[in-house]
Amino acid sequence: MKIIPGPASKQLGEKIAKLLGVEAVSLVFKTYPDGESYVRLEGKVRDEEVAIVQTTSPPQDTRLLQVALIADAARRHGAEKITAVVPYLAYARQDQVFLHGEAISIEVVARMLKAAGVDSLITVNVHQERVLAKFPFPAKTVSAVPLLAQYFKQKGFEKAFALAPDDGALWLAEEAKTVLGGECGYLEKHRDLYTGKITMEMKALDVGGKTVIIFDDVVSTGGTIALAARTMRELGADRVHAACVHPLLIGDAEKRILEAGVEEIVATDSVPSHVSKVSLAPLLSRELTR
Ligand code: R5P
Repeated sequence: MKIIPGPASKQLGEKIAKLLGVEAVSLVFKTYPDGESYVRLEGKVRDEEVAIVQTTSPPQDTRLLQVALIADAARRHGAEKITAVVPYLAYARQDQVFLHGEAISIEVVARMLKAAGVDSLITVNVHQERVLAKFPFPAKTVSAVPLLAQYFKQKGFEKAFALAPDDGALWLAEEAKTVLGGECGYLEKHRDLYTGKITMEMKALDVGGKTVIIFDDVVSTGGTIALAARTMRELGADRVHAACVHPLLIGDAEKRILEAGVEEIVATDSVPSHVSKVSLAPLLSRELTR
């Protein structure tokens, strides 16, 4: 096997190659003045199984196309099998027609990757597992929540209350609970499909005087975590922390979250940022050897 670290996940790809003891194929990558991407493989991939490691956080359209270009280059130069390792899978939240007239964006992404030569996909904490059925090849999601919970456990937060900001994320909190050994619960979140505005119902959760860690898959604008943190404070939580797998952190998301009373935001290098304190490399390298 060889790893091809894409421009959006160069460090993560190199870490994975190092852990596996395999070659990281270097890539010549540039953006033309008009914005088009150019890729060229420098190493050989003939008769090799290759894994392209490239996240698709913003600018997601460009990064998705880069995955496709790298896959095409690998296929054209004789790669035997191509796995796309896409830690943050863009468009996964638009997996059905919610309002009349919409596209199913993730299906378009799946067809594009297939056409480019991808044979299988590994992603991390995809928003809804049902999304994987849209891919015309084997597609799998793995969870980084135990790694995030482990980070907090090592920092002395054993028995902290693991909170999910909505019922769809409850399983994340349950997974964290198995590592932290405390309790878990969730809030009722509603999002207006037209305005995107979110509201949360105050639920009687027993968090008074406790440390709460909010677990979510994605932090985009920070609105969800900020609202959940405020709710926790109102319910008397002593300390509030936030953990997420994919820190998109759009605009002033981080400021919003910290102003809502969150002490620390911890995320993975699915999306490289200064809060990416937990690496996915061990998890993904294990997955690639399965
Ligand atoms: C949605 O249900 C996801 O799990 C996240 O809660 C959401 O994407 C976070 O978005 P934002 O940070 O903009 O509230």
